[in-house]
Amino acid sequence: MKPKDRPIKVKVEDLQVGMYVQLAGSWVEHAFVRSSFLLKKPAQIEKLAKNGVAQVIVHPLKSTVQPIREKKPNYVPPPPEIKVWDNPLMPENFSDILKDATVSPDRKAGFIYEASLDVMDKLLKNPTVENITQFKEGVTDMVDLILVDDETSSQLLKITNHDYYTFTHSVNVGVLSVLLTKELYGNASPHDMHELGAAFFLHDLGKINIPDSLIAKPGLLNEQERLLMREHPRNGFQILSDTNHLSPECKIIVMQHHERNDGSGYPLGLKNDDIHVYGRICSIVDVFDALTSKRPYKEALSLYDALSIMKNQMSHHFSQEIFTDFVQLFRQ
Ligand SMILES: [Fe+2]
Repeated sequence: MKPKDRPIKVKVEDLQVGMYVQLAGSWVEHAFVRSSFLLKKPAQIEKLAKNGVAQVIVHPLKSTVQPIREKKPNYVPPPPEIKVWDNPLMPENFSDILKDATVSPDRKAGFIYEASLDVMDKLLKNPTVENITQFKEGVTDMVDLILVDDETSSQLLKITNHDYYTFTHSVNVGVLSVLLTKELYGNASPHDMHELGAAFFLHDLGKINIPDSLIAKPGLLNEQERLLMREHPRNGFQILSDTNHLSPECKIIVMQHHERNDGSGYPLGLKNDDIHVYGRICSIVDVFDALTSKRPYKEALSLYDALSIMKNQMSHHFSQEIFTDFVQLFRQ
């Protein structure tokens, strides 16, 4: 399908008669008999607005009037069928809320973030095969929404929490890494974004084997503690391997998120192009979140200070190309 023919999200105020629209929410929640239809008169657009629908998906191939696209066209897959959510790890109405076009982007972002924190907390306390499987299924809806909905994405950027716990950090890195991958590749990429999203969230899974007292220790670690801490990429690799969830994306991200371009990272001391792009993405976001989070031994840095330090003092650690795109995420 050509980019211009791909379905696209359009704000209700930008709709015109002749566009074929699809409502993203459940049809029982709006006043239209059908969830997909051709706009034949202005009154239909007014009715959409009156019913609180903020935006809809327009299918160009079924439309006689074409929607205006932004400079960077993005593929917008039609929303999946609403299913009865039976994943005990996720909130009961998780799927429905994310797909409901009448829920505002900031509420969706808040809901995603709170639900992610809760789920990640449960998962890290009990990383069983069943819980990891359910978590990965739950991430699918989150990733879909982040890819499709730019407004929710930008709201998510603003609400990351900066008190450092492993589960908070995992969620921050998960969300920011998916946003950065979207910035780098757009939505029509060959990357398996569902698997990739889950892997970013799980990057520090190996820390469950490290005592909390060590993770929260004020001040510098001694040599023995430092070596123990440096085992967490291999630990995470082993857990995912044992639970049969070691996809190529998980393997790369868990093992490479502490590698550095100049070879000073761990566990393998890989350099430059030997570090996979997924590992490079995760390493930039991982460091950024560590700098902007409050720890027992340091205050949180501001966004500007963190990015300045990464640019001026740590540039040899990161891919400059990817870092430039990362900075772009905060341009609004
Ligand atoms: Fe880590």
